[in-house]
Formats: sequence, structure tokens, C-alpha cells
Amino acid sequence: MNQLKATLLQAATEAGDIIRSYFHGSFAVSNKEGINNLVTEVDMLCEAKIIEIIQRNFPDHTIISEEEGSEEHHSEYKWIIDPIDGTVNFAHHIPICCVSIGLSYQDNMLLGVVYNPMMNELFFAERGKGAYLNDVRIQVSDKTDFRKACLVTGFPYKWPHENEHPIKVFERFILQGLPVRRLGSAAIDLCWVACGRFDGFWEYNLNPWDIAAGYLIVEEAGGRISNFDGEHYSVFDKQTLATNGHIHEEMIQLIKNKP
Ligand code: IPD
Ligand code: CA
Ligand code: CA
Repeated sequence: MNQLKATLLQAATEAGDIIRSYFHGSFAVSNKEGINNLVTEVDMLCEAKIIEIIQRNFPDHTIISEEEGSEEHHSEYKWIIDPIDGTVNFAHHIPICCVSIGLSYQDNMLLGVVYNPMMNELFFAERGKGAYLNDVRIQVSDKTDFRKACLVTGFPYKWPHENEHPIKVFERFILQGLPVRRLGSAAIDLCWVACGRFDGFWEYNLNPWDIAAGYLIVEEAGGRISNFDGEHYSVFDKQTLATNGHIHEEMIQLIKNKP
């Protein structure tokens, strides 16, 4: 485990150093599928650095990475990588962006790191051993009164067609008078639930690399994560609800518009 953890932390911090070194400068930005779904040359540099570090240590492990880097091996270990989560923020020099890396074994998340170098915040969790922010143990909030909750959400680059429009759901929360923030980085949203800044987070259509690390960090901080039916969660789910546990059912009712 020590070598796995050391590799995870080295990959995240070295990629974070790359983000920090480019943050105030200029870099190439291009568009992916969808409107304003950006990728920068820094995403690619970070991804290459993370994969290089993992492969040097564990050449047989499977890698699932957002940009170009996925590599299947017959390994029980999977590294799930978002080289920059919050790329639109990064491209606009907004310091809410991070590196996110999760490691699963036999499809159970084992380790997760989310590192925001611009705020000097490194969130880390190991299955069964708690969640930490810069080495200090963190816990979800203890708020039980849903009406006093502070929430965060995000929106997909392309609207899902099969579901209710995410704006409708957002509107229901706002009409209840609840403060709902939109930071632009799902990995940071999850970590800020884990450390109690937010009481709940929901989003449609996230990808495994957005969630892998934050998912474990929320669980290890004592939070609850599920789909919008409250069912057991996988990082491949297309509905993500993470809360302090206390307000989970009320959030499901509002998301699903149940009286
Ligand atoms: C995005 C961010 C954003 C979320 C999007 C994601 P990216 O990831 O996590 O908060 O709303 O759905 O795709 O593109 O910055 O890696
Ligand atoms: Ca992402
Ligand atoms: Ca990304």
C-alpha cells in the first residue's frame, strides 16, 4: 500500500506543480465536443506526467484517463485520472481547479487524492482510514435542518435528453430559498462536502474521472453518496448525489420532485 499511496501523491503533486507554473501565464486552449468543453495544453502535460509516474511504478495496471491516456491491462488495479478538473476555470485563471486521481482494486475505490494547487489544498482518503485535508482529518457537516443547508451543483456540457432538464431541478432548489453554488469542478464540490463547507452536491452526467477520488473522500469523511434513487453508487453512474447523510432523503425528494 505504501508504494501505491506514494505514487498517487507524487503524481498529484507533480501535476499540481505544472498547473501552478502555467496558471498566470498563457497556454493553448482548444474545444472538445459540446459548447465550451475545453481542453488546454496543460491538461495534456499533467496527464502525461501522471501516467508516466504511474507506469514507472506499476507498468501492468489499467489506466482510465480523461484526455488521451486510457490503457487497458488485465489488472485488478485501475487508476482513474482527471488531469485538471475545472478546466474552464483554469482557462479563465479562476483558481478553482484540481488534479483528481482515484485508485480502485477489484472495482472498489482504495485511494483518492484531489489536489488544488492554487489554494494549496490536498484532499486524500484511503479506504477504511478516513479522509484528510492537508493531513488534518475531515468530516462532513452535522447539519440536519435541510432548510439551512448550503448546496453545490454543476451542469453537463451537453444536456441529457432522457432526463428532466437539470435547470428545472436547480430551479426547485432555488425556489425553496436554498443557497446553491456552482464552482465548476465536481471533484472540488465533492471534497467541499467532505470537509463540511457544503452539506450536499448533485449533478447529472459526470464521468468516472470527475468522481473517482472525491467519492472515496466523501465516504471516508462520513458522508453518503448514491444515485438519485438513493441506491448504491458506482463511479460509472450518471446521477451523483453526495451529502452529509442527514439531508440525503430530502434532496432526493426535491431532485425527483416528489411531494
Ligand atoms: C467538469 C467539471 C464541472 C462539471 C462538468 C465536468 P472538466 O470537468 O467537473 O464542474 O460540471 O460536468 O465535466 O471538464 O473541467 O474536467
Ligand atoms: Ca472533470
Ligand atoms: Ca478534466
